[in-house]
Amino acid sequence: MHQSVLVTGASSGIGEEAAVFLAHKGFRVFAAARRIDKLKELNAVGAGRITPLQMDVTDKSSIDAALSKIAEYGAPLYGLVNNAGASAMGPVEKLPLSDWRTAFETNVFGLVAVTQAVLPQMRAAGRGRIINIGSITGRIASPFQGAYAGTKHAVEGLSDSLRRELVPFGIKVSVIRPGAINTPFGKHEAEMLEDYENDEVYGDQVKTFKAWFSKQHPNAPSPVVVAEAIHHALTAETPHSRYTAPFKMTYALVLRNLMPAAVTDRILERVNGLGKFRK
Ligand SMILES: NC(=O)c1ccc[n+]([C@@H]2O[C@H](COP(=O)([O-])OP(=O)(O)OC[C@H]3O[C@@H](n4cnc5c(N)ncnc54)[C@H](OP(=O)(O)O)[C@@H]3O)[C@@H](O)[C@H]2O)c1
Repeated sequence: MHQSVLVTGASSGIGEEAAVFLAHKGFRVFAAARRIDKLKELNAVGAGRITPLQMDVTDKSSIDAALSKIAEYGAPLYGLVNNAGASAMGPVEKLPLSDWRTAFETNVFGLVAVTQAVLPQMRAAGRGRIINIGSITGRIASPFQGAYAGTKHAVEGLSDSLRRELVPFGIKVSVIRPGAINTPFGKHEAEMLEDYENDEVYGDQVKTFKAWFSKQHPNAPSPVVVAEAIHHALTAETPHSRYTAPFKMTYALVLRNLMPAAVTDRILERVNGLGKFRK
Protein backbone atom coordinates (compact mmCIF):
# COMPACT_ATOMS: atom_id res chain seq x y z
CA MET A 1 0.00 0.00 0.00
CA HIS A 2 1.33 3.46 -0.92
CA GLN A 3 1.90 6.02 1.81
CA SER A 4 -0.89 8.54 1.76
CA VAL A 5 -0.80 12.29 1.97
CA LEU A 6 -3.54 14.92 2.21
CA VAL A 7 -2.85 18.14 0.28
CA THR A 8 -5.20 21.04 0.99
CA GLY A 9 -5.76 23.76 -1.59
CA ALA A 10 -5.01 21.29 -4.40
CA SER A 11 -7.37 22.80 -7.01
CA SER A 12 -4.79 25.35 -8.17
CA GLY A 13 -1.17 26.51 -8.09
CA ILE A 14 1.21 24.99 -5.57
CA GLY A 15 -1.27 22.46 -4.16
CA GLU A 16 -2.18 21.17 -7.60
CA GLU A 17 1.48 20.88 -8.62
CA ALA A 18 2.35 19.14 -5.33
CA ALA A 19 -0.53 16.67 -5.66
CA VAL A 20 0.56 15.60 -9.15
CA PHE A 21 4.27 15.59 -8.23
CA LEU A 22 3.71 13.41 -5.14
CA ALA A 23 1.41 11.02 -7.02
CA HIS A 24 4.16 10.49 -9.61
CA LYS A 25 6.62 9.83 -6.76
CA GLY A 26 4.36 6.98 -5.59
CA PHE A 27 2.22 8.59 -2.89
CA ARG A 28 -1.54 8.00 -2.63
CA VAL A 29 -2.69 11.64 -2.70
CA PHE A 30 -5.92 12.99 -1.27
CA ALA A 31 -6.32 16.32 -3.08
CA ALA A 32 -8.68 18.64 -1.24
CA ALA A 33 -10.25 22.04 -1.96
CA ARG A 34 -13.66 23.63 -2.35
CA ARG A 35 -13.80 23.42 -6.17
CA ILE A 36 -14.37 19.71 -6.68
CA ASP A 37 -14.69 20.08 -10.49
CA LYS A 38 -11.14 21.43 -10.70
CA LEU A 39 -9.89 18.57 -8.54
CA LYS A 40 -11.51 15.93 -10.72
CA GLU A 41 -9.30 17.12 -13.61
CA LEU A 42 -6.31 15.79 -11.62
CA ASN A 43 -7.49 12.21 -12.16
CA ALA A 44 -6.17 12.34 -15.71
CA VAL A 45 -2.67 13.49 -14.74
CA GLY A 46 -2.16 11.88 -11.34
CA ALA A 47 -0.86 8.42 -12.29
CA GLY A 48 -4.15 6.98 -10.97
CA ARG A 49 -3.13 7.83 -7.41
CA ILE A 50 -5.08 11.06 -6.77
CA THR A 51 -8.41 11.05 -4.95
CA PRO A 52 -10.28 14.40 -5.14
CA LEU A 53 -12.01 15.49 -1.95
CA GLN A 54 -14.22 18.48 -1.36
CA MET A 55 -13.03 20.35 1.72
CA ASP A 56 -13.40 23.87 3.02
CA VAL A 57 -10.72 24.27 5.68
CA THR A 58 -12.84 26.90 7.45
CA ASP A 59 -15.71 24.45 7.94
CA LYS A 60 -15.24 21.72 10.57
CA SER A 61 -18.04 19.51 9.22
CA SER A 62 -16.46 19.66 5.76
CA ILE A 63 -13.08 18.62 7.21
CA ASP A 64 -14.69 15.73 9.11
CA ALA A 65 -16.56 14.54 6.02
CA ALA A 66 -13.34 14.52 3.98
CA LEU A 67 -11.45 12.63 6.69
CA SER A 68 -14.21 10.01 6.82
CA LYS A 69 -13.65 9.37 3.12
CA ILE A 70 -9.89 9.10 3.69
CA ALA A 71 -10.54 6.57 6.49
CA GLU A 72 -12.24 4.30 3.93
CA TYR A 73 -8.81 3.89 2.34
CA GLY A 74 -7.90 1.82 5.41
CA ALA A 75 -4.50 3.26 6.36
CA PRO A 76 -3.57 6.28 8.47
CA LEU A 77 -2.40 9.38 6.67
CA TYR A 78 1.38 9.61 6.56
CA GLY A 79 1.52 13.24 5.46
CA LEU A 80 -0.48 16.42 5.68
CA VAL A 81 0.38 19.40 3.47
CA ASN A 82 -1.42 22.46 4.83
CA ASN A 83 -1.34 24.53 1.67
CA ALA A 84 -4.81 26.13 1.30
CA GLY A 85 -4.36 29.86 1.45
CA ALA A 86 -6.15 33.15 1.00
CA SER A 87 -4.62 36.57 0.65
CA ALA A 88 -5.77 39.97 1.76
CA MET A 89 -4.08 43.07 0.39
CA GLY A 90 -4.51 46.65 1.44
CA PRO A 91 -3.33 49.21 3.99
CA VAL A 92 -3.66 48.03 7.58
CA GLU A 93 -5.67 51.17 8.32
CA LYS A 94 -8.18 50.56 5.54
CA LEU A 95 -8.50 46.81 4.97
CA PRO A 96 -11.92 45.71 6.29
CA LEU A 97 -11.84 43.35 9.26
CA SER A 98 -13.87 40.88 7.19
CA ASP A 99 -10.84 40.54 4.86
CA TRP A 100 -8.53 40.06 7.86
CA ARG A 101 -10.87 37.38 9.14
CA THR A 102 -11.01 35.50 5.82
CA ALA A 103 -7.21 35.40 5.70
CA PHE A 104 -6.84 34.24 9.31
CA GLU A 105 -9.75 31.77 9.07
CA THR A 106 -8.12 30.11 6.06
CA ASN A 107 -4.36 30.41 6.63
CA VAL A 108 -4.26 29.99 10.41
CA PHE A 109 -7.46 28.60 11.95
CA GLY A 110 -8.16 26.39 8.93
CA LEU A 111 -4.61 25.03 9.04
CA VAL A 112 -4.99 24.34 12.76
CA ALA A 113 -8.41 22.71 12.31
CA VAL A 114 -7.15 20.27 9.66
CA THR A 115 -4.04 19.52 11.75
CA GLN A 116 -6.14 18.82 14.85
CA ALA A 117 -8.37 16.49 12.85
CA VAL A 118 -5.45 14.53 11.38
CA LEU A 119 -3.14 14.28 14.40
CA PRO A 120 -4.92 11.46 16.31
CA GLN A 121 -4.35 8.98 13.47
CA MET A 122 -0.69 10.04 13.08
CA ARG A 123 -0.09 9.72 16.83
CA ALA A 124 -1.70 6.27 16.85
CA ALA A 125 0.57 5.25 13.97
CA GLY A 126 3.62 6.67 15.75
CA ARG A 127 4.76 8.48 12.65
CA GLY A 128 3.81 11.25 10.24
CA ARG A 129 4.83 14.46 8.54
CA ILE A 130 3.09 17.83 8.69
CA ILE A 131 4.16 20.39 6.14
CA ASN A 132 2.84 23.90 6.59
CA ILE A 133 3.07 26.25 3.63
CA GLY A 134 4.19 29.57 5.03
CA SER A 135 5.74 32.31 2.94
CA ILE A 136 8.76 34.56 2.71
CA THR A 137 6.13 37.08 3.85
CA GLY A 138 6.14 35.18 7.15
CA ARG A 139 9.61 36.73 7.70
CA ILE A 140 9.70 39.84 5.50
CA ALA A 141 6.45 41.81 5.42
CA SER A 142 5.93 44.27 2.59
CA PRO A 143 3.60 47.23 2.98
CA PHE A 144 -0.06 46.53 2.14
CA GLN A 145 0.39 42.88 3.05
CA GLY A 146 -0.24 43.29 6.78
CA ALA A 147 -3.10 40.81 7.06
CA TYR A 148 -1.43 38.16 4.93
CA ALA A 149 1.93 38.71 6.65
CA GLY A 150 0.17 38.38 10.01
CA THR A 151 -1.19 34.96 9.04
CA LYS A 152 2.14 33.72 7.73
CA HIS A 153 4.02 34.97 10.83
CA ALA A 154 1.44 33.04 12.85
CA VAL A 155 2.18 29.89 10.83
CA GLU A 156 5.87 30.29 11.70
CA GLY A 157 5.20 30.48 15.43
CA LEU A 158 2.58 27.78 15.75
CA SER A 159 4.70 25.42 13.63
CA ASP A 160 7.65 25.77 16.04
CA SER A 161 5.41 24.86 18.98
CA LEU A 162 3.84 22.00 17.07
CA ARG A 163 7.21 20.59 15.98
CA ARG A 164 8.45 20.52 19.57
CA GLU A 165 5.20 19.06 20.92
CA LEU A 166 5.21 16.21 18.43
CA VAL A 167 8.79 15.01 18.92
CA PRO A 168 7.71 12.24 21.34
CA PHE A 169 5.22 10.90 18.79
CA GLY A 170 7.56 10.51 15.82
CA ILE A 171 5.73 13.20 13.84
CA LYS A 172 7.90 15.76 12.07
CA VAL A 173 6.85 19.29 11.17
CA SER A 174 8.31 21.49 8.45
CA VAL A 175 7.48 24.96 7.18
CA ILE A 176 7.99 25.78 3.52
CA ARG A 177 8.52 29.43 2.73
CA PRO A 178 7.83 30.09 -0.93
CA GLY A 179 9.01 33.33 -2.46
CA ALA A 180 6.97 34.67 -5.36
CA ILE A 181 5.72 31.68 -7.34
CA ASN A 182 3.93 31.79 -10.68
CA THR A 183 0.37 30.79 -9.72
CA PRO A 184 -2.98 32.64 -9.87
CA PHE A 185 -2.36 33.85 -6.29
CA GLY A 186 -0.22 36.88 -7.22
CA LYS A 187 -2.66 38.13 -9.88
CA HIS A 188 -5.45 37.94 -7.34
CA GLU A 189 -3.35 39.85 -4.81
CA ALA A 190 -2.61 42.59 -7.35
CA GLU A 191 -6.33 42.85 -8.15
CA MET A 192 -7.09 43.31 -4.46
CA LEU A 193 -4.79 46.34 -4.42
CA GLU A 194 -6.98 48.01 -7.06
CA ASP A 195 -9.54 48.77 -4.34
CA TYR A 196 -7.01 51.17 -2.78
CA GLU A 197 -5.44 52.78 -5.86
CA ASN A 198 -7.70 55.81 -5.56
CA ASP A 199 -7.63 55.99 -1.79
CA GLU A 200 -7.13 59.59 -0.71
CA VAL A 201 -4.52 58.65 1.90
CA TYR A 202 -2.67 55.64 0.46
CA GLY A 203 -3.61 55.76 -3.26
CA ASP A 204 -0.28 57.01 -4.63
CA GLN A 205 1.74 54.58 -2.55
CA VAL A 206 -0.52 51.68 -3.54
CA LYS A 207 -0.21 52.54 -7.25
CA THR A 208 3.59 52.61 -7.00
CA PHE A 209 3.71 49.38 -5.02
CA LYS A 210 1.27 47.64 -7.36
CA ALA A 211 3.31 48.62 -10.44
CA TRP A 212 6.27 46.73 -8.92
CA PHE A 213 4.28 43.91 -7.30
CA SER A 214 2.33 43.04 -10.48
CA LYS A 215 5.57 42.15 -12.26
CA GLN A 216 6.79 39.68 -9.63
CA HIS A 217 4.56 36.63 -10.05
CA PRO A 218 4.38 36.31 -13.87
CA ASN A 219 8.20 36.14 -13.94
CA ALA A 220 8.52 33.94 -10.86
CA PRO A 221 9.54 30.27 -10.70
CA SER A 222 7.05 27.48 -11.35
CA PRO A 223 5.35 25.85 -8.33
CA VAL A 224 7.42 22.73 -8.98
CA VAL A 225 10.19 24.24 -6.79
CA VAL A 226 7.76 24.14 -3.87
CA ALA A 227 6.59 20.62 -4.76
CA GLU A 228 10.23 19.45 -4.62
CA ALA A 229 10.67 20.95 -1.16
CA ILE A 230 7.43 19.31 0.02
CA HIS A 231 8.66 15.97 -1.31
CA HIS A 232 11.93 16.36 0.58
CA ALA A 233 10.07 17.23 3.79
CA LEU A 234 7.93 14.12 3.37
CA THR A 235 10.69 11.67 2.55
CA ALA A 236 13.96 12.80 4.17
CA GLU A 237 14.84 10.88 7.30
CA THR A 238 15.57 14.18 8.99
CA PRO A 239 13.51 16.85 7.27
CA HIS A 240 14.45 20.50 7.73
CA SER A 241 12.28 22.61 10.00
CA ARG A 242 12.34 25.32 7.29
CA TYR A 243 12.64 25.26 3.52
CA THR A 244 12.77 28.26 1.22
CA ALA A 245 11.63 27.79 -2.36
CA PRO A 246 13.33 28.73 -4.55
CA PHE A 247 16.46 28.17 -2.45
CA LYS A 248 18.06 31.46 -3.52
CA MET A 249 15.47 33.32 -1.40
CA THR A 250 17.39 31.99 1.63
CA TYR A 251 19.92 34.78 1.04
CA ALA A 252 17.21 37.41 1.47
CA LEU A 253 16.24 35.82 4.79
CA VAL A 254 19.84 35.65 6.00
CA LEU A 255 20.29 39.35 5.22
CA ARG A 256 17.00 40.17 6.92
CA ASN A 257 18.21 38.36 10.06
CA LEU A 258 21.57 40.13 10.06
CA MET A 259 20.51 43.66 9.23
CA PRO A 260 18.78 46.21 11.43
CA ALA A 261 15.13 46.71 10.46
CA ALA A 262 15.86 50.29 9.37
CA VAL A 263 18.32 49.01 6.77
CA THR A 264 15.87 46.38 5.54
CA ASP A 265 13.22 49.11 5.23
CA ARG A 266 15.50 51.18 2.99
CA ILE A 267 16.39 48.21 0.78
CA LEU A 268 12.72 47.25 0.36
CA GLU A 269 11.87 50.86 -0.53
CA ARG A 270 14.55 50.90 -3.21
CA VAL A 271 13.22 47.67 -4.66
CA ASN A 272 9.50 48.50 -4.62
CA GLY A 273 9.81 52.20 -5.42
CA LEU A 274 8.19 53.49 -2.23
CA GLY A 275 11.32 55.38 -1.14
CA LYS A 276 10.05 58.55 -2.85
CA PHE A 277 7.30 58.81 -0.23
CA ARG A 278 9.71 58.80 2.72
CA LYS A 279 9.64 61.86 4.99
N1 LIG B 1 2.08 31.95 -5.17
C1 LIG B 1 2.93 32.55 -4.37
O1 LIG B 1 3.70 33.45 -4.79
C2 LIG B 1 3.02 32.15 -2.92
C3 LIG B 1 4.11 32.65 -2.19
C4 LIG B 1 4.22 32.32 -0.84
C5 LIG B 1 3.28 31.48 -0.27
N2 LIG B 1 2.22 31.00 -0.99
C6 LIG B 1 1.27 30.14 -0.30
O2 LIG B 1 1.10 28.95 -1.03
C7 LIG B 1 -0.20 28.43 -0.81
C8 LIG B 1 -0.85 28.11 -2.13
O3 LIG B 1 -0.90 29.29 -2.90
P1 LIG B 1 -0.99 29.27 -4.50
O4 LIG B 1 0.00 30.23 -4.97
O5 LIG B 1 -0.96 27.89 -5.01
O6 LIG B 1 -2.44 29.94 -4.69
P2 LIG B 1 -3.70 29.55 -5.59
O7 LIG B 1 -3.27 29.05 -6.92
O8 LIG B 1 -4.60 30.73 -5.51
O9 LIG B 1 -4.35 28.34 -4.77
C9 LIG B 1 -4.92 28.52 -3.51
C10 LIG B 1 -5.60 27.22 -3.13
O10 LIG B 1 -6.17 27.37 -1.82
C11 LIG B 1 -7.50 26.84 -1.87
N3 LIG B 1 -8.33 27.43 -0.84
C12 LIG B 1 -8.53 28.74 -0.59
N4 LIG B 1 -9.41 28.89 0.42
C13 LIG B 1 -9.75 27.62 0.82
C14 LIG B 1 -10.60 27.09 1.81
N5 LIG B 1 -11.32 27.89 2.62
N6 LIG B 1 -10.69 25.74 1.94
C15 LIG B 1 -9.98 24.94 1.13
N7 LIG B 1 -9.16 25.36 0.17
C16 LIG B 1 -9.05 26.70 0.02
C17 LIG B 1 -7.98 27.13 -3.29
O11 LIG B 1 -8.97 26.18 -3.67
P3 LIG B 1 -10.56 26.42 -3.75
O12 LIG B 1 -10.79 27.86 -4.10
O13 LIG B 1 -10.99 25.44 -4.79
O14 LIG B 1 -11.05 26.02 -2.39
C18 LIG B 1 -6.72 26.84 -4.09
O15 LIG B 1 -6.62 25.47 -4.38
C19 LIG B 1 -0.93 29.47 0.01
O16 LIG B 1 -0.90 29.09 1.38
C20 LIG B 1 -0.13 30.74 -0.19
O17 LIG B 1 -0.22 31.62 0.91
C21 LIG B 1 2.08 31.33 -2.31
